[in-house]
Amino acid sequence: MKQNIFQKKEDAELVPPVDSTQAEAAKPEDNKKTSDLISPANHGTDIINLVNINQVYSDHNTSNVVFKDFNLDIKDIKDRGQFITLMGKSGCGKSTLLRYISGLQEPTSGEVYIYGKKRTDKDRIPMVFQQYTSFEWKTVLENVALPLILKGVSKREANDKAMDMIKIVGLSGHENKWAKYPTLSGGQLQRVAIARNLVVNPQILLMDEPFGALDTVTRKQIQVFLRSIFEEAKIDPTVVFVTHSESEAVFLSTDIYILDSGPATVRHHFKIDLPAKRDDSVRYSTEFTDYVNKLGAMMEELKNK
Ligand SMILES: Nc1ncnc2c1ncn2[C@@H]1O[C@H](COP(=O)(O)OP(=O)(O)O)[C@@H](O)[C@H]1O
Ligand SMILES: [Mg+2]
Repeated sequence: MKQNIFQKKEDAELVPPVDSTQAEAAKPEDNKKTSDLISPANHGTDIINLVNINQVYSDHNTSNVVFKDFNLDIKDIKDRGQFITLMGKSGCGKSTLLRYISGLQEPTSGEVYIYGKKRTDKDRIPMVFQQYTSFEWKTVLENVALPLILKGVSKREANDKAMDMIKIVGLSGHENKWAKYPTLSGGQLQRVAIARNLVVNPQILLMDEPFGALDTVTRKQIQVFLRSIFEEAKIDPTVVFVTHSESEAVFLSTDIYILDSGPATVRHHFKIDLPAKRDDSVRYSTEFTDYVNKLGAMMEELKNK
């Protein structure tokens, strides 16, 4: 089991690693609530558990039930990164789910577990948004180094690590430019955001439609780049990704969850069994096209409901 970098080391050590056989044996029975079974002992391979989540938004005389007893369990794949993509109609609750995981929002009731431990206010899981979120009055280097500086790392070490990350995201030579449009393009600004979030070596990275504002060509390039940094840089976080693009979902994902709305439920969950190393040629394979068509049909079925 990986250590959650957001928890104190001594806390992490209190939870002994559990091998997958044990975890399998401790699997929840279908008729039991997951919350009844949450304990460190049966949580060895869990990364994120959303347990009996309820969310109601009330207006003067209407109430919108977005989640009702919603559960989602995401497991670790040992020594490998994974891309979990959430899809579903607008308003079904995808961004809200990411906010629960990141700690930006608490559900009306229910619990969020990160690495088998109830999340606390100290757990901040990084998130990349569709909007450009860099500090425009800081350079690329200052933006990428900032999360390390905030953690108390010395300026020199922070700058060294930031420069390494800037290289990984393909922005070498741009480090002293202001992180703003149009000094940098939209694609470059999203690379800055990705670098800023990856520099602290997170084990979970949340991405909410991060490429939604990019043109098609840039979007495809950045998808290839995103896959490649995980393959080549030996970074293995679990990415929870939201997109409306079926081809983007298939290209990036190891798993896709399709959510239905009112209240949210997981309608489909399936794995994308394409090679781990993916470049543009994957898009022309029959397997890729089959997945995109299958996904398209599932999304169509939701729309027609
Ligand atoms: N602060 C809020 N107040 C009232 N309703 C909200 C609030 N935030 C989200 N909602 C509602 O919750 C539902 C889910 O929103 P969201 O998670 O943003 O959906 P998605 O990301 O899937 O498009 C929507 O119906 C939205 O209108
Ligand atoms: Mg959203």
